Amino acid sequence: MNGLPEPGTAPVLETRGLTMRFGSFTALDGADLALYPGRALALVGESGSGKSTCAKLLTHVLTATGGHIFHAGREVTRLSGRKALLAYRSAVQMVFQDPFAALNPAHDVGHHLSRPLALHRPDLDAAGRRAAVAGLLRAVDLDPAATLRKFPHEMSGGQRQRVNLARALAVNPSVIIADEPTSMLDVSIRLSVLDTFRDLKRERGIAMLFITHDIATARYVAEETAVIFRGRIVERGPTAQVIDNPRHPYTRLLLAAVPEVDCPFGAGHSLAPLAAQVRESIQAPGTLWEVSPGHWVRQAA
Ligand SMILES: Nc1ncnc2c1ncn2[C@@H]1O[C@H](COP(=O)(O)OP(=O)(O)O)[C@@H](O)[C@H]1O
Ligand SMILES: [Mg+2]
Repeated sequence: MNGLPEPGTAPVLETRGLTMRFGSFTALDGADLALYPGRALALVGESGSGKSTCAKLLTHVLTATGGHIFHAGREVTRLSGRKALLAYRSAVQMVFQDPFAALNPAHDVGHHLSRPLALHRPDLDAAGRRAAVAGLLRAVDLDPAATLRKFPHEMSGGQRQRVNLARALAVNPSVIIADEPTSMLDVSIRLSVLDTFRDLKRERGIAMLFITHDIATARYVAEETAVIFRGRIVERGPTAQVIDNPRHPYTRLLLAAVPEVDCPFGAGHSLAPLAAQVRESIQAPGTLWEVSPGHWVRQAA
């Protein structure tokens, strides 16, 4: 396995030149991304690099100021009409960073899952819906009997994030956009939650965009990785290639676990030359070049 999709497989969700400007500030600059069934793309970058902006464009919380989005081969860059928006939002589901904020404290888990099911599967009777809710909980590795009547405050962060994932699954999406879904969880339970994300996308053939500021997480969940720096994709390819053979100075800096490019380096710090290269790359961003099959790196011409 080389980390690339099977030749000839069509992406479920694809962007071309996706761009978002807020006034004169460009938060996302010409992103080309492709999500495939049963696979995850990790979008990795430091805080403020444009990751959540990308998620909001893909879920139509924001409308792009430039470029294109295609879903199942159809252009969906601009959706007009409530019906089209609702249909799109059920196909492309979002899981947020804060597992608590997304749940209503007044409702138990059963209610959180029954509601989207009632809308999405009006054919189910009460018994069928109960069975479907139990199936969703098992799919995210929660015990239905123990969880069904729990309220958000009675669960751990990891359990709440599993409920959020189950709720996203309730409408049978083709795409899940997960924006730093484990960054607020205890380190001790992160891996088991990541396991659930990883298994689900495979079992259900879901295309996943997994947003994280932690490049080590990418290796765990995603076949492909795109590194974003100040709104621009600087490197993209099979995760093993990007992590084991990083070509862009910013990717190398991320792998050296330096959280911010502008953090002050002491004179003679071994990473100072790399940071200088990254700063240079801001002045001359260049374009993406394919350095090995499927591995693209932004370089000056
Ligand atoms: N609605 C907005 N108006 C103006 N600037 C914004 C808006 N949303 C995000 N930004 C800016 O865009 C940049 C990228 O933000 P964001 O996509 O949230 O980054 P990330 O998720 O990678 O931390 C930041 O500099 C942020 O301040
Ligand atoms: Mg963000």
